[in-house]
Amino acid sequence: MAQARIGLISRGCSCEGRNRQWLKRLAADEERDKIDNGLGRVCLRILIISDIHANVEGLQAVLEAAKGEYTQVVCCGDLVGYGPEPNEVADWVRKNAHVVVRGNHDKVAAGIDSANQFNDIAKQAAYWTIEQLSEENKKYLFDLPKGPLEVTSRYGILHGSPLDEDEYISTSWEATEVFAKLTRPVTFFGHTHMQGGFFRSGDGPVQAIPNPVGDMETRKIVDEKEGVLYYINPGSVGQPRDSDNRAAFVIYDTTGFIEYARVPYDIETTMAKMRKAALPDFLIKRLKVGR
Ligand SMILES: [Fe+2]
Repeated sequence: MAQARIGLISRGCSCEGRNRQWLKRLAADEERDKIDNGLGRVCLRILIISDIHANVEGLQAVLEAAKGEYTQVVCCGDLVGYGPEPNEVADWVRKNAHVVVRGNHDKVAAGIDSANQFNDIAKQAAYWTIEQLSEENKKYLFDLPKGPLEVTSRYGILHGSPLDEDEYISTSWEATEVFAKLTRPVTFFGHTHMQGGFFRSGDGPVQAIPNPVGDMETRKIVDEKEGVLYYINPGSVGQPRDSDNRAAFVIYDTTGFIEYARVPYDIETTMAKMRKAALPDFLIKRLKVGR
């Protein structure tokens, strides 16, 4: 791979070209969606995942729990960083995901952004990740499109916010600005590692959907209503931070519902792999508490 791929490059210089390629691929989806919508909404069931962060056990648990329930996988970024198996996760996403946008950790791992923006712990994990990643996977991460991406007439995806792919949207107040920029009834995002999101009916206030799946539950369905915009976070597969240590995902049924889900995974194995890789202790311990 060319040295330019590894070194730091100026932001945004090649995003347009990259996104053009992905948009071309999505044009076929859009056309099919329009045709199907002429006959009533097409029933697509999509597994929406985000913030896998090189956690194979989390990813395996999600795939097992969602088995037989989806026909496409869509990923809102941060495939790598923090976790112990960046190549395994990047390989899987590369082969299996239908649409992916890049996350901030993907950009650092690919050399698009510098790790200097991270705190010391995240920086240490980022340098370790860069050392581990194959050239093929670095190139894959480098070429990932910048969000937002409009996938069909029903939904779009991004990592942080439509205004800034690296922006954290955690509160209704922060989300208010976002809703003016949404171009589809449903938009999926990640970055905060907190399952939930926001909705707004007409010109009403932005309302939060906090911790949709309770501790004793595994699923929660939100019906999609006409005239309501949804900004939905599927939660993190590999490093949840909403006080629930279970891996998080969403199944989006395009006939009109969003199903939040949580599944326990083999945290001890992931922690053991991280210890073996000498990744920072704080990152190992936080998996157990889900914070
Ligand atoms: Fe993340």
